[in-house]
Amino acid sequence: MTNTKKGRVFSGARPTGRQHLGNYLGAIRNYVALQDDYDCVYCVVDLHALTTLEDTDKLRGWTYEMTLDWLAAGMNPDLGTIIFVQSHVPQVTELHLLLSMATPLGWLTRLPTFKDKVRQQPDNVNYGLVGYPVLMAADIALYKADVVPVGVDQAPHLEFTREIVRRFNHHFGEVLIEPQAKHTEFTKVLGIDGEQKMSKSLDNHIEIAASPEEIEQRVMQMKTDPARKFRSDPGHPEVCNLFSLHSFFSADQVAQIEQDCRGAGIGCVQCKRLFAQNLSAHFAPFRERRAELAKDPDVVWDVLAEGARRASVIASEVISEVKDAIGLPKPR
Ligand code: AMP
Ligand code: TRP
Repeated sequence: MTNTKKGRVFSGARPTGRQHLGNYLGAIRNYVALQDDYDCVYCVVDLHALTTLEDTDKLRGWTYEMTLDWLAAGMNPDLGTIIFVQSHVPQVTELHLLLSMATPLGWLTRLPTFKDKVRQQPDNVNYGLVGYPVLMAADIALYKADVVPVGVDQAPHLEFTREIVRRFNHHFGEVLIEPQAKHTEFTKVLGIDGEQKMSKSLDNHIEIAASPEEIEQRVMQMKTDPARKFRSDPGHPEVCNLFSLHSFFSADQVAQIEQDCRGAGIGCVQCKRLFAQNLSAHFAPFRERRAELAKDPDVVWDVLAEGARRASVIASEVISEVKDAIGLPKPR
C-alpha cells in the first residue's frame, strides 16, 4: 500500500495522570484531527517527567491513565498512529547527548520556560532540567517530525528545536527536519480560578474523564466576570473565562448566552449550570469509551508495547544516520 500521508507528526506529554480541559482544547484535539492527513507518533514522555517529579512511584499509574484518556479521545493505532513511552525507545537519550554538544548553554538558561521552573523549584535545579528542551528536540528530531501539535506554552521549545536542527544540519549536512508547531485556537486555557493556566499542579483543572457530578462541582467553583457582583449587574462575556469555554462546548447557544449575560437576563450560577450540563454531555461518549477500554488494562499496555516496537524501527534508522553524519567511528 502506498503512503499518501502529508508527512509525520510528533507530540509528547508528561505522564501527569488524567488529562484536563487545557490538554484537550490546547493539544489533544489536534493530536486526533491530524491522524487523517499525517503519520502520527505520540509519546508519553516519562523521562521529561523526572526533571520535576519526586514521587516516581506514580509514573506507571499516570502513564496508564493518560494513555487511556488518549485512546478514548480518539487517538487510534488502527489509523497507523504510534503511541509509546519515551523510555521504551532509548535511542532518544543518545540523540539528546549528541544534540547537547551542539547546544550553547546560554540558549538553555535564557529560555523563559527554564526561568519559570527555577522560580517554581529553586531547590531542584538539576542538570536534566536545564537540558529539558534538548531532550524535547531529540524526541522531535529522532522521528523526523514535520509538524508538532502543542499548546502555545511550548512555543519557545519548538523555536529552540528549530534552531538546534538548523545548527546541526549546518555542521553535518541536511539530516534532520525543521519542524513546524501547530496550535489550536485555544492558545491558553485558564483554570477554574480564571487567572492562571489550567494545570494539574495548580489544582485549578477539570478532568475530561470527570463524572457529571465532579464536573458540576468544579464548574460551580469557576470564577466569572469580577465586575458582576449582583445578579442584576450586566455581564462582560469578553472577560469571562466561563464564556470563552461556552463558545466551544455550547456553540449553538453562545449568541443567546452572550445576549443574556450582557442584559443580566441570566445569572452566573445559571450560566455555570448550563455549562456543566453541556460539558458533561460533550464528554459522555468519551466516558463510555474510556470505561469500556478500562475493563482490560492489557489494552493500554499492549498499545504501548506495539507502539514502542514500531517507534524503535524509525529511531534506530535515524540515530545511525545522525552518527554517520557526525563522523563517529563505526563498529566492525
Ligand atoms: P502537559 O500536561 O503540561 O505535559 O501538556 C500536554 C500538552 O497540553 C502540551 O502540548 C501543552 O502545551 C498542552 N496544555 C497543557 N495545559 C494547557 C492549557 N492550560 N492550555 C492550553 N494548552 C495546554
Ligand atoms: N514539553 C512538553 C510539555 O511539557 C512535552 C514534550 C516532550 C513534547 N517532548 C515533546 C511535546 C516533543 C512535543 C514534542 O508539554
